[in-house]
Amino acid sequence: MSREQLEADLRAGLWSPPPSLPPRWFYDERGSRLFDEITGLPEYYPTRAEHEILARRSAEIIEITGARAVDELGAGSSTKTRVLLDALTTGDRQAVYAPLDISGEVLLETADRLRAEYPTLTVAPAVADFHHLPSLAGEPGRRLLLFLGGTIGNFTGPERSDFLAMVRGALVPGDHFLLGADLVKDPARLVAAYDDAAGVTAQFNLNLIDVINREAPVTGLHREDFEHVALWDEDALHIEMRLQAVRDVEADFTGIGRRWRLAKGEHLRTEISRKFHLDALHAELADHGLATATVAGWTDEAGDFSLTLARAT
Ligand code: AVI
Repeated sequence: MSREQLEADLRAGLWSPPPSLPPRWFYDERGSRLFDEITGLPEYYPTRAEHEILARRSAEIIEITGARAVDELGAGSSTKTRVLLDALTTGDRQAVYAPLDISGEVLLETADRLRAEYPTLTVAPAVADFHHLPSLAGEPGRRLLLFLGGTIGNFTGPERSDFLAMVRGALVPGDHFLLGADLVKDPARLVAAYDDAAGVTAQFNLNLIDVINREAPVTGLHREDFEHVALWDEDALHIEMRLQAVRDVEADFTGIGRRWRLAKGEHLRTEISRKFHLDALHAELADHGLATATVAGWTDEAGDFSLTLARAT
């Protein structure tokens, strides 16, 4: 992503109440590695829970949808998708997999690996962000679009609505959408998942300061001046990640010609991670022309995480 994009996000976010930045800036090389580490932490249940559901339901998902092509938004290294690709290519069936991601490098590496592993799979990677979907691979009406990992939770309400409208716009009746979403649960477990004992999530959050320092001309912005905070907001139903100032901060963003002040105790909001009640999530999907009533939804055994299969109507 470009310096111009970062400067636009800094301009739009740092001087608004509360100061905030979009979470996309977490994911430089180190941030992506830290996120991978987070997915294996004892406190961070979503990745394991989603994998449990996929391992149990992939064959059923392929059967219900009749899909011969799977498109995946935010595919990354496609680790979470393997079980579904196994089901898609069962009996050496010809099929198409189109991973879409903002990181071209990861995509191309992944595509090469998958081609070697799945000889009957046509792999068609495309560089895309969540806001601009290219036309999807596969025969219209028999496609399955994935959005896994609970990333839907990182959108604000209006962003989520725009995203679902875009998803529906990319599909035709008969296509399906498979969505992974984290569920509301005991706040203590939610907070622990975003404030782990080993401090990996804190490193992930603080890495944002390093990314800004590297990508945008600035003086006076130091990672030691911040600490990681994760809070559960009961009304908004989201975890909020913050970088809280441990002393007064005065940074000079020379690239955009603006000074930024944050008093000790004030914070920068770096991410929200929304948790859902299933009824409300299904209603929201239906409002966007993504019907769940006739299709299916599952949770893991513990009821922590959900996968919802919706049909475009
Ligand atoms: C990518 N996303 C679904 C993660 C989440 O749980 O909201 C990002 C994350 N932030 C801190 N830990 C994980």
